[in-house]
Amino acid sequence: GAAEKSGYEHYMLKEIFEQPEAIRNAIRGRLDHDRGTAILSGLNLTARELVDLHRLLIVGCGTSMNAGLVGEYAVEDFAGMLAEVEQAAEFRYRNPIVNSRDIVLAISQSGETADTLAAVREAKDKGALVAGLVNVVGSTIARETGRGIYLHAGPEISVASTKAFTCQVSVLLMVALKLARSRRFSREEGMKMAREIEQVPELVEQVLGQNDAIAKVAESFVNYRSMFYIGRGYMYPVALEGALKIKEISYIHAEGYNAAELKHGPIALLDEEMPVVALLNDGPGKDKTMGNVAESKARSAPVLGVITTGDEEARAACDWVIEIPASPQYTATITATVALQLFSYHVARLKGCEIDQPRNLAKSVTVE
Ligand code: G6P
Repeated sequence: GAAEKSGYEHYMLKEIFEQPEAIRNAIRGRLDHDRGTAILSGLNLTARELVDLHRLLIVGCGTSMNAGLVGEYAVEDFAGMLAEVEQAAEFRYRNPIVNSRDIVLAISQSGETADTLAAVREAKDKGALVAGLVNVVGSTIARETGRGIYLHAGPEISVASTKAFTCQVSVLLMVALKLARSRRFSREEGMKMAREIEQVPELVEQVLGQNDAIAKVAESFVNYRSMFYIGRGYMYPVALEGALKIKEISYIHAEGYNAAELKHGPIALLDEEMPVVALLNDGPGKDKTMGNVAESKARSAPVLGVITTGDEEARAACDWVIEIPASPQYTATITATVALQLFSYHVARLKGCEIDQPRNLAKSVTVE
């Protein structure tokens, strides 16, 4: 009802604005700044067990899977440990190779998604250590995994997931920190990463402060029928999630690509009717993605850039920009996603879409 929306027009907008608080709750008590590590009791393994782990395998669907991809990158990047994300629905049917030296992390907001639950059962049958990263306390996946980490994001009502994603990523970054400290990170390196994670809620607040500017940009997008989202490295999962969000609530067709893949096919579709959303915030992939922006402009595609505040070079290359505060790219996965959530929200609102209950979608899909 209207009361629960606390003055917001939609649950989705309310949940977008709840993110600083939700992320604070997800990280509360879990960052040990003195020891430069994360305390995740659901992953309480002995030092020996942690070192013996061969691989982190992450399974999930939809938005939860996109969060998992950030987790894969972060665990490999920081902990130097093999990590992989797999679509939960595919896992069970392709005779996956998993064993007792693998830890399987099932990510699910609802804890009830049938595809993810099936993957959990398959992994358990194969003898893997299985843990859950779940929001809803006492849900089926939380119960069947036995061990795991609760998100503490609070109830998510809007069908399109927002705060669950950013909290999932926040927790996955802490998983990466914990694994990194058990393997190769010094205390100082751990302390630095803990500080960077701690800053995320404040950075998200700064993005929320751009809401009016983002709403203005959205006005130019209501008549497009199709869009590309491109990013590299940590910004690739953000491109996937950005594209998923706009599809879900505005019914504009969108594809998320690794920016480098553009030239291997999708570029054939670029013209003035096909805008490109480019993740151009500071980081290792930025210059190359700038090159893809130039290629897109050369084919008359309009470009919306997500850029670091004050980056005049990136601004000049784009038709529209959304600014996010400077931060390392691994935490910019969260801020850039929040910017794209607001963008999708406003496009859908301006189109008059049924934002909280998009057609054909359900909050959790309990059939395979
Ligand atoms: C449905 C929802 C998506 C969600 C996915 C996974 O398809 O519409 O928003 O990302 O399920 O849900 P889960 O609860 O497992 O995270």
